[in-house]
Order: sequence, then C-alpha cells, then structure tokens
Amino acid sequence: MSSLLQGVNLYLIGMMGAGKTTVGQLLAQQLSYGFVDTDNIIAQAAGRSINQIFAQEGEAAFRQLESDVLAQVCAYTRLTIATGGGIVLRRENWSYLHHGLIVWLDVPVEIIYNRLAEDTTRPLLQDIDPQSKLRSLLEQRTPLYSQADLHITISKGETPEEIATKVMQAI
Ligand code: S3P
Repeated sequence: MSSLLQGVNLYLIGMMGAGKTTVGQLLAQQLSYGFVDTDNIIAQAAGRSINQIFAQEGEAAFRQLESDVLAQVCAYTRLTIATGGGIVLRRENWSYLHHGLIVWLDVPVEIIYNRLAEDTTRPLLQDIDPQSKLRSLLEQRTPLYSQADLHITISKGETPEEIATKVMQAI
C-alpha cells in the first residue's frame, strides 16, 4: 500500500474527458480497491441519463444529487472514485473529498476538446460554441482543481496505463 493512501479513498477530479473513469478503473485494479463513478451511481439511481436529469430538473438538482452520492461513498474506504468534473464547485463537497486523497488529472483543454468533439452525453457542452464553453469552465475551475492533494499533469499521447503509473508513483 502506498504511503499517502493508507487505505483511504482515492478521489479523481478534473475536467470532463480527462480520463477519470478509465484511469480510475486501472488504479482500482492495481490498488485492489473497489471502483465507483459518481455519475453512474446518479444515473442508475435516477433511472435516467445525466443529460435527462439536467434537462428535466436542471443543473442545481443534479449538483444536489452529486453531493448526496459523494456523502454516501465517503462512508466507505478502499474505493477509487471517478467524480464528475463539477464536483469541485460546491464547498460542502470538499469536506467529503478531504476524507480521502484527492488527485487532479490535469489534461490540456485541446486534448479534452478533441476527445469530446462528437460527445453528446455532456449537457454542459451542448452549447453553440463548445470549445469556448470548455475554456471558460476550465478557467473557472482551475483554482478549485488546484486544491487537490496531488496534481498529475497529462500530456498529449499519454495512455491511460501511463497515467495510472504516474499516479501510482505519486501516491
Ligand atoms: C460535468 C461533468 C460530467 C457530469 C456532468 C457535469 C461538469 O462528468 O457530471 O455532465 O460539470 O463538468 P464527467 O467529468 O465524468 O464527464
């Protein structure tokens, strides 16, 4: 077991398209941890997609569901948790995140944009100008993501396996 982790949950934060789910699954295997994705839990519990929740109830309602799920998962230990990109927005979420080790997967906006160019599952990017929207979200959130315990900078061409190795070396 790594020296920083000591059995506590590992929370992956960062923008949508940063690879939190893929990298989180790899990390869970390597750590012999469970894996959960907060968006999946929300969608399963609601019986609807994240898009539908945003469309039918609005972002504020989604953020409440997100906080509720975070409160639930932080009652467990030995989980790797892929969080939604906006988890950092609510102050109360930080008190939950700080129960574990918080790792920011920091991916350049160009890479995220290329990955999500054809994506229709992210309600916040269904905008007239998704690239500008992404930039402004990143600008708003960077000071928040920076509050993570560990900052993993990802460059173009790095595979999820390589990113997971970097995280394993850092924790
Ligand atoms: C969001 C990111 C999404 C999802 C929702 C809102 C955000 O999760 O929670 O669409 O505000 O950045 P991913 O980061 O897993 O895409």
